[in-house]
Amino acid sequence: MIHVLFVCLGNICRSPMGEAVFRHLVDRENLADKITVDSAGTASWHTDKLPHDGTRKVLEREGISYEGMKARQVSLTDFKQYDYIVVMDEQNMIDLISNYEDIKGPVLAKLLDFAEDTGEVDVPDPYYTGDFNYTYDLVLNGTENLLTHIRIKHNI
Ligand code: 4NP
Repeated sequence: MIHVLFVCLGNICRSPMGEAVFRHLVDRENLADKITVDSAGTASWHTDKLPHDGTRKVLEREGISYEGMKARQVSLTDFKQYDYIVVMDEQNMIDLISNYEDIKGPVLAKLLDFAEDTGEVDVPDPYYTGDFNYTYDLVLNGTENLLTHIRIKHNI
């Protein structure tokens, strides 16, 4: 099993979108018995909340399920359980490294490290920009290429 965790700040906008879209791709490629998906936030403010309205609207438009998803904060045990921790921006990376600096288990990467031709290095936060459609375009590009990367790397 390969365990993938998406991380953003609040775990209500970007990382739940990443989780839902990536799970959708994994299911579509019949890999649900090989890859697990979850998401978490570096902050605890929104614990137990549903994804943000804007994220839900985009996912509903695309026919992508977010059933059962609720916000939670990232924890030390995540670093022991996950193989890939995929963050949305540089600040998420800084926050993870500074809080869990002695942990060297999972691959820690930014989603857009895997994306092609976006002209962006970080996924802009739609909580502030309001542009959930642009976030979706970037998340789709990143997650499609992340899945390709994992399939090649793990020969699945
Ligand atoms: P996210 O966006 O990190 O993509 O979930 C945010 C959600 C909530 C807040 C900031 C960013 N907030 O300040 O509450």
